[in-house]
Amino acid sequence: MIAKNSAMQLIHDKIILRPLHDSDREELAWLANNKKIWDNLRDLMPHPYTIDNAIFFINLTKQEYPQMIFAIEYNGQFCGVIGLTGQHDVYKKTAEIGYWIGEPFWNKGIATVAVNLITDYGLNQLDLARIHTGVFEYNTSSMKVLEKCGYKKEGVFEKAIIKNGQTWNEHRYSKTK
Ligand SMILES: CC(C)(COP(=O)(O)OP(=O)(O)OC[C@H]1O[C@@H](n2cnc3c(N)ncnc32)[C@H](O)[C@@H]1OP(=O)(O)O)[C@@H](O)C(=O)NCCC(=O)NCCS
Repeated sequence: MIAKNSAMQLIHDKIILRPLHDSDREELAWLANNKKIWDNLRDLMPHPYTIDNAIFFINLTKQEYPQMIFAIEYNGQFCGVIGLTGQHDVYKKTAEIGYWIGEPFWNKGIATVAVNLITDYGLNQLDLARIHTGVFEYNTSSMKVLEKCGYKKEGVFEKAIIKNGQTWNEHRYSKTK
């Protein structure tokens, strides 16, 4: 049982998943304002990404219970965001995972640790049965992260994505309890 209003933290060595704070807004806006990140995410993510977008997002995360969206800290520095989106109706035991790491922090193993931490939290503390996501066909780095975390490729949804005006396949991954 997760206590309401408890400041949930998931920790592995130098990497901490914690709630977003108002004081993250500058770093969040600075790191998120990167086309290389936006190219791999849904168009729902603003681009360019402003301080106002950061404030709006941080306020949104304050309303959630149980906590599903986390700031990622590396060595005490804010470096990205990871979250689960719960599904509904007959999919109520499923969540979709999403994440991004600021470019200066890439290839340090941070996403792999963060995905492992939130997957364990989702499947064990939130009692989900399944966590899944879709990766754009050119995002080999994210596919590698998911595979390192024990996610299984379930298939390829052909021509499922339109990004930057082009059509792409989507690689679907999941991990179940
Ligand atoms: C994808 C992303 C989250 C990875 O974060 P990260 O912290 O750099 O990931 P890790 O360091 O844990 O692991 C990355 C792995 O991909 C590998 N990799 C990096 N670039 C690669 C490339 N072009 N081709 C193949 N593998 C690549 C790294 O070598 C590493 O694997 P290894 O540990 O076996 O060496 C980050 O690049 C990012 O935020 N991208 C933009 C947003 C995004 O793609 N979000 C996910 C949407 S599904």
